[in-house]
Amino acid sequence: MGKIKILDDHTRSKISAGEVVERPASVVKELVENSIDAGSSEVLIEIKKAGKNYIRVVDNGQGMDEEDLVMAIRRYATSKIQNFEDIFRIKTLGFRGEALSAIASVSEIKISSRTKQDEIGNYVKLEAGIIKDKGKIPMPYGTEVIVRNLFFNTPARRKFLKTDSTEYNHILDMVIKFGLAFPEVEFQFISGAKNVLNLKKASFQQRIEQLFPELKNKLIPVEVQTPLFNLLGFLSSPKVNYPRRIKQYIFVNRRAVITPLIYSVIDKVYQGLITGRAYPAVFLFLDINPQFIDVNVHPTKREVKFKNEHELYELLLNILKGELSGEKIITTINPPSAPLMSDERKIYGSEISTQAVELTAHEIKEIQESFLEARREEFLIYKNKYTIWIDEEGINIVDNHAAWERVLFEKIKKVIDHGKVEIQRLLLPEVINLNPKSAEILRQNVDLFLKLGFEIKEFGENSFVVHTRPQFLNVSVVKLIEEVIADIIAEEKVEDKTYKIITSLACHSAVKAGDSLATEEIKNLISEVKKLNTPYCPHGRPALIKIRWQDVEKEFRRR
Ligand SMILES: Nc1ncnc2c1ncn2[C@@H]1O[C@H](COP(=O)(O)OP(=O)(O)OP(=O)(O)O)[C@@H](O)[C@H]1O
Ligand SMILES: [Mg+2]
Repeated sequence: MGKIKILDDHTRSKISAGEVVERPASVVKELVENSIDAGSSEVLIEIKKAGKNYIRVVDNGQGMDEEDLVMAIRRYATSKIQNFEDIFRIKTLGFRGEALSAIASVSEIKISSRTKQDEIGNYVKLEAGIIKDKGKIPMPYGTEVIVRNLFFNTPARRKFLKTDSTEYNHILDMVIKFGLAFPEVEFQFISGAKNVLNLKKASFQQRIEQLFPELKNKLIPVEVQTPLFNLLGFLSSPKVNYPRRIKQYIFVNRRAVITPLIYSVIDKVYQGLITGRAYPAVFLFLDINPQFIDVNVHPTKREVKFKNEHELYELLLNILKGELSGEKIITTINPPSAPLMSDERKIYGSEISTQAVELTAHEIKEIQESFLEARREEFLIYKNKYTIWIDEEGINIVDNHAAWERVLFEKIKKVIDHGKVEIQRLLLPEVINLNPKSAEILRQNVDLFLKLGFEIKEFGENSFVVHTRPQFLNVSVVKLIEEVIADIIAEEKVEDKTYKIITSLACHSAVKAGDSLATEEIKNLISEVKKLNTPYCPHGRPALIKIRWQDVEKEFRRR
């Protein structure tokens, strides 16, 4: 009895400050958001000691007069909304009216501000949320906020701060996000004595290149307008990728957001274009009618909720998939230009292989014969592994297995998408005997196999009979199904089982590297490869590599 008590004001504000102000980077975020909401075209961010002791943000925005300045530091004081419904019409980054009061309650803060109309500015100083001093101050128009000794009055929180380098990285990341989202604003970022960033006014693409020069000329731009959203995006070719999601930036109405929904769209778009666990560089700027999103779902607003999640997912997936196909993603070889004269024994930094000189007479004859063949057939086959041909654009090298895999993959996918498959009844139905685990996997997927043209019936314990196979997969049925099931078991955690099954079917039915193909089959392969939109095997290895004549000319110094 009597155990429950209402907390006093002071404790309450310290607790809720914790939600908004987690670390120095949150202070930077809130202050820069305010500067942008104030219509600034220049923002200076200065920190010392990773922001733990000193953060200063100066802007040239609309500023505040004396009365507003005192209001600004009060809790729930905002000029940005008037009622709850306004959140669904919001155009500003802030709206809760709590950031400044939250920061003030856990630091020593000085805010100085001057409007264009006033001749002199005003300042106010607070410690732990209590006003200690205020007065007039001459200054240019705009606002300057200095935050010292963050969490000085909440030692437990201060202790939780990470090392300087971690906290610094969080701030840098924050500044980069603002830089990307607001290329029309100039940002200067100073840390200690170091001028870290000096971003001039730019277009979205130029801003990306200012921040990540290594991505210059490596991004595919996308710009579309749909009834649900307008999108400006920049996608890297699959060749450019990173071990973590470090170069994926998503903005919704200029707000940097973490959104599993859109990450999963990106992963799906690049599925089969990148080998293993790797993440491409992707910058997406989505403009969505505020009615269709809820920005008020996270204390620091880093998540948003979409009203039409499903539609958004499908639409975005289709757009990005369409962009990431054909010519734009063909793997090209551009050898690094290096002065070759200096050391004749070196080619692009590696020794000329002595093996190349020591070809056996037999091998030389083989190569010569392939060239003769090439002249007749207009293609050349190397070790039954690669098919090479030339056209007006350059030299094409196809990995037979990878290419065939992709061709089959597309065919199987079509069967699944359109539900039409020509089947062949097996003269003698074939029996598959499986262990209990494999049997269970097959049982779970008989419908999918049926869709693909394999009619499989269970008979007896863990045994199955295959009655039909699809016409276009002319391979040993039992072995194929066993291999597919083994693949599924090996990667039990995969979410997209259908994709896995299609990939596995394509892989095990495709010609293997080293299989000899008849001339007609090769011709067929080349014509199929030419039709491919995604010349990659479904595991993400390239199926076609192109050496463009223009690069050849450059290398021979003819251009
Ligand atoms: N740099 C600035 N320039 C001009 N006005 C400012 C600036 N910073 C704050 N203000 C004024 O102070 C008010 C309070 O700022 P505060 O950040 O606490 O709340 P908010 O931005 O309205 O909402 P949120 O808590 O979501 O950030 C703002 O609504 C704005 O009117
Ligand atoms: Mg704010």
